[in-house]
Amino acid sequence: MSADDLFAAAKAAMSHAHAPYSQFPVGAAVKTKAGAIHAGCNIENASYPEGWCAETTALGHMVMAGGGKVTEIAVVAEKMAKIMPCGGCRQRLAEFAAEDAVLHLCDTDGVLETVPFSAVFPRGFSFEDGK
Ligand code: THU
Repeated sequence: MSADDLFAAAKAAMSHAHAPYSQFPVGAAVKTKAGAIHAGCNIENASYPEGWCAETTALGHMVMAGGGKVTEIAVVAEKMAKIMPCGGCRQRLAEFAAEDAVLHLCDTDGVLETVPFSAVFPRGFSFEDGK
């Protein structure tokens, strides 16, 4: 399974980043079980805590397009190879991630490493745990 299309979507999304405060553009893309790709960029705000991450924008697009189960995630940042989703975004991704979802760690040329999402977000909060 090639992640070229997902990486390309994440990189294209990065070009839309609104990151005037951090100067740290990020792009993310998710692929659903149905094969659809949804991408997003980080969107910062003059009131710093009100900004949000690229992964969150991508999930918003996915939900508005009808939702789905996420099977693959790619994140890219021009200033950081192998950028990892922040803790909050891992929790948000987990909400929609298939059990066997994978996370592609990238640089601006492509995917460098692919890891199971479950390995980077074990035991996240879930109402399933309380049953
Ligand atoms: N950022 C993301 O978009 N995704 C991540 O996984 C980590 C951080 C953004 C948030 C902020 O706009 C900038 O990167 C610097 O923290």
